[in-house]
Amino acid sequence: MCYEFKLTKVKKIGLILLSTVCALNLGAQKPIYQDTAQPIEKRVEDALARMTLEEKIRLIHANEIYSSWGVPRLGIPENHPTDGPLGLRPEMKWNAPVHEGISGDSCTSYPALVCLAATWNPEMGRLYGKSYSEEALYRNKNIILGPGVNICRTPLNGRSFEYMGEDPYLTSQMAVSYIQGVQGNHVAACVKHFAVNNQETNRADINTIVDERTLHEIYLPAFKAAVQEGNVWMVMGAYNKYNGQHCCHNQYLLNDILRKEWNYDGVLASDFGGTHDTKEAIFNGLDLEFGTAIDSIESYDNYFLAFPYLELIKKGEVGVKELDEKVRRVLRMMYRTNMSADKPWGSLASPEHADDARKIAEEGIVLLQNKDNILPLDISRLKRVVVVGENAVTKMSCGGGSSEVKAKYEVLPLDGIRNRLGNKVEIIYKPGYSSAVEPEENEKLRMEAVEAAKLADMVIFVGGLNKQPDQDGESWDRKSYELPYNQNELIEELAAVNSQLVAVMISGNAYAMPWVKKVPGIVQAWYAGTESGNVIASVLVGDVNPSGKLPITFPVSLKDNGAHVLNAYPGDGKKVEYKEGIYVGYRWIEKQKIKPLFAFGHGLSYTTFKYGNATVNKKNMHDVEGLVVTVPVTNVGTREGAEIVQLYVCDDKSSLPRPVKELKRFSKVRLAAGETCNVSFSIDKDALSFYDPELHRWVAEPGKFQFLIGSASDDIRTKVSFELE
Ligand code: BGC
Repeated sequence: MCYEFKLTKVKKIGLILLSTVCALNLGAQKPIYQDTAQPIEKRVEDALARMTLEEKIRLIHANEIYSSWGVPRLGIPENHPTDGPLGLRPEMKWNAPVHEGISGDSCTSYPALVCLAATWNPEMGRLYGKSYSEEALYRNKNIILGPGVNICRTPLNGRSFEYMGEDPYLTSQMAVSYIQGVQGNHVAACVKHFAVNNQETNRADINTIVDERTLHEIYLPAFKAAVQEGNVWMVMGAYNKYNGQHCCHNQYLLNDILRKEWNYDGVLASDFGGTHDTKEAIFNGLDLEFGTAIDSIESYDNYFLAFPYLELIKKGEVGVKELDEKVRRVLRMMYRTNMSADKPWGSLASPEHADDARKIAEEGIVLLQNKDNILPLDISRLKRVVVVGENAVTKMSCGGGSSEVKAKYEVLPLDGIRNRLGNKVEIIYKPGYSSAVEPEENEKLRMEAVEAAKLADMVIFVGGLNKQPDQDGESWDRKSYELPYNQNELIEELAAVNSQLVAVMISGNAYAMPWVKKVPGIVQAWYAGTESGNVIASVLVGDVNPSGKLPITFPVSLKDNGAHVLNAYPGDGKKVEYKEGIYVGYRWIEKQKIKPLFAFGHGLSYTTFKYGNATVNKKNMHDVEGLVVTVPVTNVGTREGAEIVQLYVCDDKSSLPRPVKELKRFSKVRLAAGETCNVSFSIDKDALSFYDPELHRWVAEPGKFQFLIGSASDDIRTKVSFELE
């Protein structure tokens, strides 16, 4: 039956009267919770005081897979988070992470966070966050579920491309800048996954056993920096357990560390499906529950923090103190974001954003090897270039789990190379291998590529990993350190027939390179986003002088990784014990005196930088206030370039064993040919400290320290010492 809307005269008069009253009311004072002139805390309290018990309960759990309740009666909107760290995730159906299939959600694909970390440039982090959050605003998202800051403990971790490497200091600096960029636009960043979620294997339940010192020195610093320096507004708990208790309601991590020690005033959200117990969630710091399994729309009411919580309150088993605190936190985050009067408008997939993504990628690509200066390519001497490898024609933004992005466009490496070289050079493409065929067919592809390579002036191999199962992606780890699909054999054969070989490797993590000595040019291109192919071509021809450095170690094999050699990964299915302790990545390599394939911090340029002698303004002090280390760096080559100057601290003697060196400062400087600049680093007590598990705090012990300054962790150019008295 169709309801006919007819207004009687009486009703009309009534409506006119009503609108007059409303109009008069406009001049009246707004309630505090709506008054943008009032401080946030006052508004929070006012809103809280107006809410019913049921409304409070609703505010702290999801009402769809990617949204959570507001308070419609009070005009308080819903929250809309978006995955993930690398760009907007496509819109999903209400009840499952299944694409809605709408148009209008195509966006900019930003480089993987490991690529951002490889820029070693916090300015790039800020640009990333600013640019991406503009896209979020346009799509009405008030929360970005990123950045991911879990430390890369093993090269097999499927999600390392979403994280920022193996070093706590580098990760911290990059995370803080990303967060500042995002939140500057009144969108909440959500730093994840708190904490010790360093593998995907058995991630939902594995009990992670990490000693207190290692936890504080390696796995917590990036979260701490996100909270204390980045003022992050949301933190996501991890799936796994820490010391026997799930991280989304872990007494030690959330109450003792996050709230008490770090004074965090934002929201702790669960990972999706990471909540397991109502009482623990109430008392151990979970504020906002997402992703718990559902089978109907009503199921949202059965979330751990929904009816079960309400029931406990009604029965008098728990009070409302904790609930009020959770509601305060959620409201506070909302006043900072979707209820902020200063929230700007956004823009989506704009040329400016593509440019931002391109800039970041250009700075993040790492030139690993450049024998005989095979790069940059001398186009004038090339007639025919053969491009080999499936990754030359594979889009990478659209896979990998929750960080998938529906890129408005993604320039393929082959297209980028054709765009840049194609009108001068003949470009021939041969797949060489395929991820989707039987080994015999790959054999045929290999032979065809090798035949073509024989007749080329130059071979550009574009391979590596991809986002398929057991490669880079969420919910699995890689099974092997080797490249898949027999790429090693293919590369060896290409090298045997053509010495002019450059490998452009696309991956989010390290892999074995048994062919390293036979391939003169190696470029680590990560997952570079929307402009991927164009960026790769710019680096190959030298329009861009590479300036990225590795945020992870490339060990020769897994035997050179502490977690693997100590049989401490992936655990027995129930628990995983981090037996290598603080010796993660280069800390292990240096302790064991191992030569890596490529060291943490390594990356070449098309120019050369010379380091002068480092000096320190004070040789000894009682405290470190005002301590500055300076080093002159000169670009002695013939073209402009950027160098990442790295400062590592070495504690000569200490009561507890310490790593041979630890990154504590870095600076990226751009220098014209012939230009010199003095790079200065202020050193504080934190840079000299280690975490003492007996005292449960950081300590800087008196004694001699060395500041080692160089171009990579294995390429220290100058050092200077200092005594803490
Ligand atoms: C992932 C999170 C992600 C969430 C929402 C989880 O499976 O671990 O990183 O933000 O899903 O998609």
